[in-house]
Amino acid sequence: LPVRELAEVLGSAVTQPKGLDYGWARGEAVLLEQVARFFDLIGVPRRPAVVVGGATQGLFLALYALASPGDTVLTDAATYSDALSCCASLGLRTLGVEDDEQGMVPEALERSIGDERAAGRRPAAIYMIPTAHNPLGMTLGTERRDALVAIARRHGVAIVEDETYALFDGTEVPRLSALAPELVIRLDSLSKVLGPGLRIGWISGPDEVMDRVNQLKAAVDVCASVPLQRAVATLLPEIRDLAAPQLRGLEERRAALLGSLDEHFGGLCRWTRPRGGYFVWMDLCGRCGSMDLFRAGLKAGVAVLPGAIFSPHRLDTAVRLGCANRTPAELREGVARLRRAYDTLLSGDKSG
Ligand SMILES: Cc1ncc(COP(=O)(O)O)c(C=O)c1O
Repeated sequence: LPVRELAEVLGSAVTQPKGLDYGWARGEAVLLEQVARFFDLIGVPRRPAVVVGGATQGLFLALYALASPGDTVLTDAATYSDALSCCASLGLRTLGVEDDEQGMVPEALERSIGDERAAGRRPAAIYMIPTAHNPLGMTLGTERRDALVAIARRHGVAIVEDETYALFDGTEVPRLSALAPELVIRLDSLSKVLGPGLRIGWISGPDEVMDRVNQLKAAVDVCASVPLQRAVATLLPEIRDLAAPQLRGLEERRAALLGSLDEHFGGLCRWTRPRGGYFVWMDLCGRCGSMDLFRAGLKAGVAVLPGAIFSPHRLDTAVRLGCANRTPAELREGVARLRRAYDTLLSGDKSG
């Protein structure tokens, strides 16, 4: 993370005139101007935005604005676990839609929306992570994006596009918020590039949703931290350069992880081959459960996350492997330990 650059700009943001006053709920003008340029950079039409305490707060405010208790939020069959907690805390039902190797299956989305309506429930939003998905690791291709957006549009269901990893896959695909600006509420975050402890991001979308989000933001905590907003505004123009060292390191770590999986799990399990992000999703092909492998892994000295925590339906069939903060050598050792844990589990030896 760019600690030195942040330390410099944070110091000078505090000493600016009115650097410690309350600000506007929408956000500081200097940051909103840079957010508009960020949209230009990634090919999203300029749109109203509100600065929030990370994508997590953005998701909460978006769903609070869009949905009422008892409504349904459609997600991938495996999705970001804290998004599931967010829905639960708002009294929303989550329904996992089938995925294949390219992501959410359009026909399955269509069916799920129909089934919910037939059961008298309102599908209030579709929550998607189109770039470098957590936990699935994949980036949705153009065709799939078009097909999913067309279904959402036909049924009039909003999409919440979580782009926390927007910069983590350089493939040229249109952002959902560019394909359907009138339908998509977009979440951006600086957590993964500048640091999760900063708690800063922004939410953007159609006027009427953003007016509501603006009111909610004012009611929740008045505004995002003023000096922090001013500090990150000075870094946003360089965001791609600031992300570059991390992205290079990740590429190397992902390659080490994927190479070790080929070596130790080839022919036994199936996994995604992400081009970006931190995560690989490994399907255990019915040979063992994710909770059992999680426990066996801990005994063998390696932590993987059980797929059940990412599934609205607690599906126990896959694990998430991460390469965010381990060296290539540690990742190779981790996969070797996981294979030992797997063998112990399958041989039924509980002493391992
Ligand atoms: C898909 C996804 N969304 C949101 C977040 C949280 O982002 P923030 O720190 O901006 O709240 C994460 C963090 O891991 C994530 O993976």
